[in-house]
Amino acid sequence: MKLLTFSIFLLMPLIIYNVEGQGKKQGSTLADRVQQLTDLSSKKSVLRFNANKFKDYVKTAPRNYSIVVMFTALASQRQCAVCRQASDEYTLVANSYRYSPAYSNKLFFAMVDFDEGSEVFQMMKLNTAPIFMHFPAKGKPKAADTMDIQRVGFGAEAIARFISERTDISIRIIRAPNYSGTLSLTLLFAFVGGFLYLRRNNLEFLYNKTMWGVWALFFTLAMTSGQMWNHIRGPPFMHRNQNGQTSYIHGSSQGQFVVETYIVMALNGAVVVGMILMAEAAKGKGDPKKRKIFAILGLVLISVFFSLLLSVFRTKTHGYPYSFLFK
Ligand SMILES: *[C@@H]1O[C@H](CO)[C@@H](O)[C@H](O)[C@H]1NC(C)=O
Repeated sequence: MKLLTFSIFLLMPLIIYNVEGQGKKQGSTLADRVQQLTDLSSKKSVLRFNANKFKDYVKTAPRNYSIVVMFTALASQRQCAVCRQASDEYTLVANSYRYSPAYSNKLFFAMVDFDEGSEVFQMMKLNTAPIFMHFPAKGKPKAADTMDIQRVGFGAEAIARFISERTDISIRIIRAPNYSGTLSLTLLFAFVGGFLYLRRNNLEFLYNKTMWGVWALFFTLAMTSGQMWNHIRGPPFMHRNQNGQTSYIHGSSQGQFVVETYIVMALNGAVVVGMILMAEAAKGKGDPKKRKIFAILGLVLISVFFSLLLSVFRTKTHGYPYSFLFK
């Protein structure tokens, strides 16, 4: 009995020391971590986390701050064009927060890139990007803490709304005004207006069918070759793989490179030229010899470039059975 009391007495300081030490360590690390996060965010509004930092600042309890994390893949070889756009919107939210009166140490913004923290992706069982997740100050994230970008998109306003639903912090998005659209439209109107004014005594050209034809043709070629898709999705110009080989045509029908759309546009254009030559030949006017040449040239152009178009299509759509002239 005496021995037990004695040993407890002996051990007591050790136990107290340990409990206190632990408490102290955690307390100080929380304050430290909050301080570190505050310092880091004053330099950069979106913090970049690798696996270690993610564990330290997001996974380690206790936390008294919310943290929003964007899981993304910005490296160009990942070919995630939406990641880049989503990242711009996300940075806009973080910057708007950084300079808003609501700014405090209750909320931080971070991002984990797949190529800097793939362990994090494994740990969180994520297999797509981008994903926006809110880690609340207390407890684990629930299903609603993952932003449903399929439904609401990833515009800065949508992200801010998501954050205000999950925390009590509302962020007003401050976008830098973008005058370039207005400016180019004004310039275009001025140009066209000025041109019409200068030519006001001779507006015959407005009835020029060839001019309208060329415009319509150009518009059609631009649209059918996927320029609008490029504008919206922002694909890479071309692709260079690890072995240094460049590919100009995307290997699947789900994507395209910018240069590929120019190639397709040129092929389509050549087919159109062939068609025009043949139509000219069939008009029945002019030198028969010349018309014969036109007809043959047109036929060759159409066959060759249509075959090329088909083979481009075949490389993208595996299992497509038809080809002509070329495999
Ligand atoms: C969180 O805890 C740290 C350390 O105690 C403190 O400095 C910080 O102000 C707290 N943050 C909030 C939002 O209460």
